[in-house]
Amino acid sequence: MSIDYRAEIKRLKEALDVTVVAHYYQRDEVFEMADITGDSLELARRCKADKNPWVVFAGVGFMGQSVKVIAPEKRVLMPKIACCAMARMIDGSYFDESVEYMVKHGVAKENILPITYINSDASVKAKVGEMGGMVCTSSNAYKIIEKGLESGKKILFVPDRCLGQNFANSMGLKSCVIGVGECDPKEADVICFNGFCSVHQLFTVEDVAFYRNKYPGIKIAVHPECDTEVVKIADFVGSTSQLIKYVNDLDPEQKVAVGTEYNLVHRMREKNTYVLSSTKPECPTMNETTLEDLYLTLKSIEDGNPINEIVVDPHTVKYASLALERMLAIK
Ligand code: 13P
Ligand code: SF4
Repeated sequence: MSIDYRAEIKRLKEALDVTVVAHYYQRDEVFEMADITGDSLELARRCKADKNPWVVFAGVGFMGQSVKVIAPEKRVLMPKIACCAMARMIDGSYFDESVEYMVKHGVAKENILPITYINSDASVKAKVGEMGGMVCTSSNAYKIIEKGLESGKKILFVPDRCLGQNFANSMGLKSCVIGVGECDPKEADVICFNGFCSVHQLFTVEDVAFYRNKYPGIKIAVHPECDTEVVKIADFVGSTSQLIKYVNDLDPEQKVAVGTEYNLVHRMREKNTYVLSSTKPECPTMNETTLEDLYLTLKSIEDGNPINEIVVDPHTVKYASLALERMLAIK
């Protein structure tokens, strides 16, 4: 007999002290089962404030890890431990090499303030926390960089070169990317690691031109993980939640092309909304989680044998939480 996953998930949610969390990029059928949804910042804040001892997080690895770091008393399970491809681009040793690069080019270690995008492993966040740095997300990067600059130090921004450069541009700051052309840390304010999101690289200047030619007056709204040249010509740049609000607030007749993950754009208002790409920009790892995975994870709690539990060692929790809490303290 086949299992009615939706009915079983609902039953398990009622029976257990569990909160199901989903990022906007999840498949519709998984997303619909969630108690908490939002962008990365909202998910971190709301999970921390949530009372249930169990969290089942449908998203990518760094999201579940971040909950465990800021609320270590919680039991955090992930239906699939799928890793964000960008977060995999940097580990502790690449982080150390980036610091060494800056030191070799004349910036003393005590004059470096690292900021890591939340899309990074807890071990990288711990290195950042240990050096007095902070985490940021796509919705608060402006404020966090602004705060970081108050220290008078150079900002080392990891791992997303696009996010780092896009916010530096919007703030009128000089930036460069380690390993790309001339990158003199003494000349730049924000020195970026050379990581990127392959999904958001799918949106191009040509796509923007295509939509503007086809629908004169169309608005272009993109995520800050997009390429700097795309961001420069967009009408709006924002996190996933900010993009949803922007689109919802438009006149229903106003056409808009959105540059972010397919599942989210597809779920936005039906009329006059386009995916800013000739491809189908799906995040492969976000798409790994299925309704069956969600069911099996909840069932494993009921059976007393939890699967895919997120474990973070105490040293990492200690320092990664410093970096995350410094971010959460900034309103
Ligand atoms: P948001 O914080 O905007 O939800 O972005 C997360 C992400 O991974 C975008 O690719
Ligand atoms: Fe990571 Fe890109 Fe997927 Fe976001 S869309 S989770 S940055 S790979």
